[in-house]
Amino acid sequence: MTTSTSLSPTPADLIAINGTDHVEFWVGNAKQAAYYYQKAFGFQVVAYAGPETGIRDRASYVLQQNKIRFVLTTALVGDHPVAKHVLDHGDGVRDVALWVEDAAKAFRLATSRGARAVREPHVVEDAHGRVTLASVATYGETIHTFVQRDGYQGVFLPGYLPREGLDVAATGLEFVDHIVGNVGWNEMNTWVEYYQQVFGFHHFANFDDKDISTEFSALRSVVVANHNERIKFPLNEPAEGKKKSQIEEYIHSYGGPGVQHIALNTSDIVDTVRKLKANGVEFLATPGSYYDGLARRFEGLAENLAELKELGILVDRDEKGYMLQLFTKPLEDRPTVFFEIIQRKGSESFGKGNFKALFESIEREQDRRGNL
Ligand code: FE2
Repeated sequence: MTTSTSLSPTPADLIAINGTDHVEFWVGNAKQAAYYYQKAFGFQVVAYAGPETGIRDRASYVLQQNKIRFVLTTALVGDHPVAKHVLDHGDGVRDVALWVEDAAKAFRLATSRGARAVREPHVVEDAHGRVTLASVATYGETIHTFVQRDGYQGVFLPGYLPREGLDVAATGLEFVDHIVGNVGWNEMNTWVEYYQQVFGFHHFANFDDKDISTEFSALRSVVVANHNERIKFPLNEPAEGKKKSQIEEYIHSYGGPGVQHIALNTSDIVDTVRKLKANGVEFLATPGSYYDGLARRFEGLAENLAELKELGILVDRDEKGYMLQLFTKPLEDRPTVFFEIIQRKGSESFGKGNFKALFESIEREQDRRGNL
């Protein structure tokens, strides 16, 4: 990636992005992963592409819950980019696809401002309409595909056929709140500038190692957002601590930078977390002492404190309101990508006030893995 400092200031809506279109994971076994995300998280399989639809080298399952759409793709042959990605990274996020008005323009602007081209604009179509796609690289081997839908009426994209999955109950997950990238030592500012220069994003918030450190480990984080703030990308880099930070553990385990977590919004976190736990989803543990004095710190909390404590849900606030959050354990054996479940009650916080309690919980897990 290269950026030039001689570029003119970027207009706020340099690339008009409506929101997250979908997130594609490249996985070792999409059939089994689809079962897990259905049974554990309540996603519905809605579409499929693979040998039965004329695609010989891979299979993709499209899962949906409200506005959240995940694609799980696996390779059907050994010598394949998806197989290589899984070999290097384990199961992980390959593509954070962005829903745009004009994919060719987005691609042209992004590449002219320093983004590396991955796939030139191209049109795919079927009886339900046409979609224009184009892709550029971001941190690590992660990409952004621009998706221009032009009122496409099919179930996902041309090439995918409708498919029904298991009969599972939804868990109340509604939309992607933010997607976090982990980058290497001293690389955070490069990637913040990338999103500012290439995409015209603005600085939304930042946290330094005083906000985010424990006795042992630390990180720095900056949040960038697009004009309408439907896209928020916190970018983390490790900071010096006494022991190995969770970001270093991630980079080591993932084999480089990549998506660390996807925050999924719910309008009833107590109900959602209760359902997820009943489905077997594992969450990071919150120490009971976290709840001592919580009611005093958060006057006007509508939730039942005993329920929050029972479920381990964390609370943070800013001047605009409060928010509730909880983090799953990693979704695969490598300690890499995980989900955050988040409910916002006015607050725009990312949980800064919880970082210490959260990190101590993560460190206990790192220690169990022998990675602290
Ligand atoms: Fe988060």
